[in-house]
Amino acid sequence: MNQRLKLGVLGSGKGSNFKAIMERIIDGWVPAEVRIVISDVPDAGILSYARDFQIPGLFVNPGKYRTRLETEVEQDIVRLLQEASVELVVLAGFMRVVKEPMLRAFPRSIINIHPSLLPKYRGLEAWKQALEAGEAVTGCTVHYVQAAVDAGEILGQLQVPILPGDTPESLHARIQIAEHDLLPEVVRQIAEVRSKLPDSFAARPDDK
Ligand code: GRF
Repeated sequence: MNQRLKLGVLGSGKGSNFKAIMERIIDGWVPAEVRIVISDVPDAGILSYARDFQIPGLFVNPGKYRTRLETEVEQDIVRLLQEASVELVVLAGFMRVVKEPMLRAFPRSIINIHPSLLPKYRGLEAWKQALEAGEAVTGCTVHYVQAAVDAGEILGQLQVPILPGDTPESLHARIQIAEHDLLPEVVRQIAEVRSKLPDSFAARPDDK
């Protein structure tokens, strides 16, 4: 019986989090499979990794907006994800806000990795915000995606100390190491929970 959770991964950047998920799938720790990778950036590293791992990878032209997708484009992405039978959408460095078409199509089935200990430091360059605020500790968070940006139920967090002499770059690099542990682990936990649910509940495990 194939109980592997079917993932769709969206990313705009180098794709190190996608790579981390793939490595943990391949070594058998995460009972999931990535069905499709989608990027809004044509030459994003995440699409190169998709090729390396022989996963279908698609560039989707985001349209005229800078921080979100055009509605028709988002509807196209929903269709692509549904055609690939995706059960959980993973935003792994996807630099656009997800709106109603995606939220409606995948209720409580979209997760995001954010480089701070939410609810602190929402938004861009969260590691820099934490550094500039003089924090001793920051980290990363995986959360369900909802309409409000970088909000949504928190599924897991890892702390990362801020060290004397840290630069934004050195701190972000250390947060990313933590991300590569946290994101596959949360995917594993969701896959485990859903594999125990009857099929009719699998798409919406705990809607309230
Ligand atoms: C990560 O730092 C993540 O927290 C943020 O974007 C970055 C993506 O990195 N949302 P990568 O493309 O997975 O290497």
